[in-house]
Amino acid sequence: MESMKLIFWLKVLCILGPIYAEDAPNIIYILADDLGWNHVSWHNPSVISPHMQELVDNGVVLEQSYVQPTCTPSRSAFLTGTYPFKYGRQGPPLFAICPTGLSVNYTLLPEMLSELGYSTHLVGKWHLGMCDWAYTPLRRGFDTFTGFYVGYGGYFNHAYHGGAWGNRTGPGGYDFRQQERVMWEANGTYSTDLYTDEAVNIIKLNENSENPFFLYFAHQNVHDPYEVPQKYLDMYPDVEDELTRKIVSMVTAMDDSIGALVDALKDTQQYENTIIVFSADNGGVPGHPESNHPLKGYKYDLWEGGTRGAAFVHSPILKDTPRPYSGLVHITDWFNTFLSIAGSPSLQDNDGFDQWEAIRTGNLPSPRQDLIYNLDQRAIKTIGGIRAGSYKYVVGQNSDEEGPWLFDIEVDPLETTNLISTNPDVAAELEALLLSELSHMVPADEPKLDPAGNPENWGGTYSPGWCTAH
Ligand SMILES: *[C@@H]1O[C@H](CO)[C@@H](O)[C@H](O)[C@H]1NC(C)=O
Ligand SMILES: *[C@@H]1O[C@H](CO)[C@@H](O)[C@H](O)[C@H]1NC(C)=O
Ligand SMILES: *[C@@H]1O[C@H](CO)[C@@H](O)[C@H](O)[C@H]1NC(C)=O
Repeated sequence: MESMKLIFWLKVLCILGPIYAEDAPNIIYILADDLGWNHVSWHNPSVISPHMQELVDNGVVLEQSYVQPTCTPSRSAFLTGTYPFKYGRQGPPLFAICPTGLSVNYTLLPEMLSELGYSTHLVGKWHLGMCDWAYTPLRRGFDTFTGFYVGYGGYFNHAYHGGAWGNRTGPGGYDFRQQERVMWEANGTYSTDLYTDEAVNIIKLNENSENPFFLYFAHQNVHDPYEVPQKYLDMYPDVEDELTRKIVSMVTAMDDSIGALVDALKDTQQYENTIIVFSADNGGVPGHPESNHPLKGYKYDLWEGGTRGAAFVHSPILKDTPRPYSGLVHITDWFNTFLSIAGSPSLQDNDGFDQWEAIRTGNLPSPRQDLIYNLDQRAIKTIGGIRAGSYKYVVGQNSDEEGPWLFDIEVDPLETTNLISTNPDVAAELEALLLSELSHMVPADEPKLDPAGNPENWGGTYSPGWCTAH
């Protein structure tokens, strides 16, 4: 009887509009750009990031948190809860004048959270398409947006340095927006400072709101160009390698920003009811040998160094912290995990799992037993990787080595011993599982670059209006 009543009232609420628990936690998802496994203080104590370290020391470190090997695919997977190969985003990151974007077929996470009563905010990098307004953040579920549309750019001048063509020789343009307005006055200010101010404002404005907020903070750090205020460089006088010094300084700049967010949460009494998730979007870049040490590989490839992201969860809501969480997590999982945190009456039928109870309590196994690292086909060549239990199978991932490879990641996380000939049955099984996914694959969506998007045609800035979203 009581439950009948409850169901009745839930139905009434559904008809009346958004249902949300007033007490649902705020959610902050911080995504760092091109951050290497070895460039966080909990893996490498020479990195100065005391604010993140404090969150880790009182939180849950995710030891096996997987992302896609590059920016656009990871961001696509996060916001759809679905593997990128299912909608053509398994290829390289989007070039600025590529006339496409993240398929509008999908309802993105912020839209779902809005329906549950959350206010939704994006601060930082988008990189999911901008040739049609329909691809841009405010048309995809975010209430507010402060940041940039394309893949990277100057931290001070917010200019995409001649990178329009992808070979970094084309015409460049300005790329910084507040809502949909070009924010010319941002020129000259370090982007991390602009983002921190905006995020702190969002937190303060929410102080007296009945609705919880979702903040997707997509940091520009530590993507190239390697620009950082001098005061951070001065904190690393003993680092001789100039590139390393710049990158770790950029991590410290990001750490200050995270510290400011936590202070704002505490000042406004929202800290107790906020969940902070931090993750890299892919591994550190090639050309910097130590970035993912001791993992093998870099951004762009399917080795652990490209796909296992440095990550943690922090919240006073978590039980028995600090502790590690060694269960498998994939970036698609945050979609259903956040819906679960938000008290959604149902989850989505996508590629992600609700990890919340396992991460919150620490005494349940991960609901995830396998994952697809990526899947693509170039001519007749299949490129992909799959994990099932402790085994990982990879095929065709680069031109000088075709594979296939089989590793037992639990005993060999550094991927040193190819078990393909010693363990042919497991290899055949994983290969079959991976190839069976080809039936769900949409060919990589990579139309020819379109000079119509050249900022010269749009008052010197990257602007929508030169393609039709699909
Ligand atoms: C989007 O949906 C349409 C209609 O169902 C379909 O033809 C198209 O392939 C879908 N696009 C992607 C990228 O999945
Ligand atoms: C870069 O790409 C553009 C467009 O495809 C091409 O016109 C230009 O020649 C390329 N530049 C170099 C140096 O390859
Ligand atoms: C940004 O400021 C610099 C320095 O004042 C100036 O040279 C540059 O043209 C400005 N960029 C834009 C897009 O106005």
